[in-house]
Amino acid sequence: LLGSGGSVLDLVPVVPVVVVDRAEDAVPLARALAAGGVPVVELTLRTPVALEAIRLIAAEAPEVVIGAGTITTPAQADAAVEAGARFLVSPGATPSLLAHLGSLPVPSLPGTATVSEVIAAREAGFTEVKFFPAEASGGTAYLGAVASVLPDVRFCPTGGITPASAPSYLALPNVACVGGSWLTPKDAVAAGDWDRIIALAAATAELRG
Ligand code: 3PG
Repeated sequence: LLGSGGSVLDLVPVVPVVVVDRAEDAVPLARALAAGGVPVVELTLRTPVALEAIRLIAAEAPEVVIGAGTITTPAQADAAVEAGARFLVSPGATPSLLAHLGSLPVPSLPGTATVSEVIAAREAGFTEVKFFPAEASGGTAYLGAVASVLPDVRFCPTGGITPASAPSYLALPNVACVGGSWLTPKDAVAAGDWDRIIALAAATAELRG
């Protein structure tokens, strides 16, 4: 998975966007996703234990492709790579963040929400980007319109996508996967209800028509 030349976008139809509050939840959570057929985690840098969670998954669950999300600064990108992240995702981008992401040894999906931002990302060498926040920024109608002017760019839309709306995104030619937090509900993680997470992961196999 994610060998040289491989694309983050082609790993799984739904990339789990994960928030971890307790480092000890990281490995069982990642293993549950993998057991459900989703061996990928975008671990967001939104809690104090996020880097530790990335480190633990990289060390103890090597069958899972661990990435870091919510990267907004070059320093966070460096720290995530150092912790073992194999891909990086940002919610948005600046020219300096794009340049930094492009200089790293792991692939990145920079965040975009407008045509100008997609063009800026492409200028920096990225033809695969995140579309965030997808539902709030125009959803499938936006992506359909972008396909006619920038047909060479592929997207991972995230933000507000649900199991009900995911199939309409995944049916678009310029969408390879979607991201979502619904695979790892806070209450399931807090209760250690890994069976529920296995089931939610397994259900994503049905979403690509
Ligand atoms: C992200 O960073 O991609 C979003 O927080 C995921 O959005 P969702 O929680 O609406 O799925």
